[in-house]
Amino acid sequence: MDRRKFINSLSAASLASVAGASSLTAKADALEDAMDDALNAKRRAKPSVCYVDGRPARDPDDDRPYYMHYDPLLPEMPKAPQLVDFFNLRFRPQHVLQSARLAKLNGHNETIITACLLHDIGLNLMGTDHGYWCAQMIAPYVTDEVAWAIEKHQALRFFPDKDYEYEYPQAYIDLFGADYKPEPYIVQSYKEAKKHKWYETSRLITINDLYSFNRDINVEVDEFVDVMGRNFKQPKEGLGFDGSPVAHMWRTLIWPNNFL
Ligand SMILES: [Fe+2]
Ligand SMILES: [Fe+2]
Repeated sequence: MDRRKFINSLSAASLASVAGASSLTAKADALEDAMDDALNAKRRAKPSVCYVDGRPARDPDDDRPYYMHYDPLLPEMPKAPQLVDFFNLRFRPQHVLQSARLAKLNGHNETIITACLLHDIGLNLMGTDHGYWCAQMIAPYVTDEVAWAIEKHQALRFFPDKDYEYEYPQAYIDLFGADYKPEPYIVQSYKEAKKHKWYETSRLITINDLYSFNRDINVEVDEFVDVMGRNFKQPKEGLGFDGSPVAHMWRTLIWPNNFL
């Protein structure tokens, strides 16, 4: 939540009740009540993709307007957001940051480090086919090799490769069951990738991918700002506002809870 904007949005009555509270505990309670009021002032639209049985019935008595663009639950983004702003204000970035650090420690070049740094940011938008979503959303800003490798990592992680000492992840057995078989389009994607000149780039994403990353380590995004600067063409209008064919994906990350 943007605290300054939140405080500014409080009604005079709420501010007076916080200021007039007799003790620190009473002030905290008054602030919490004010926050509840502010967060419930409008309805928050939810993505409809999961409502296979139809959207839940609307409450006919609820005629509050929906939040559009401004959402008090989310930190406000700059007007022309850059990649690092998404890392700081929208993504859950530890997995990719730790993967990028591992690639760096393993001595890989910046193409590989960049691919590792970005390989799963599509998950912030959509889990299903995250490699494809991710490749598409970054394609205008990175090399073809990086985008291709990221798309293909989705398939490659299901297929062992002795040459790279890559084994099927135990995490996938735990998550999907021992009898899980990838869909035919994933098998096809793997076969195409195996013959491709950039196979190694994609395979190295899976090698440096952390299937159970360390929750005790905190890698700061600052460690990779230089790499981003050299390997990701930031549009001067900001991601989401450069008129590119993928701008809507970045806008969706900025305003994920818009009604429309
Ligand atoms: Fe992934
Ligand atoms: Fe990953």
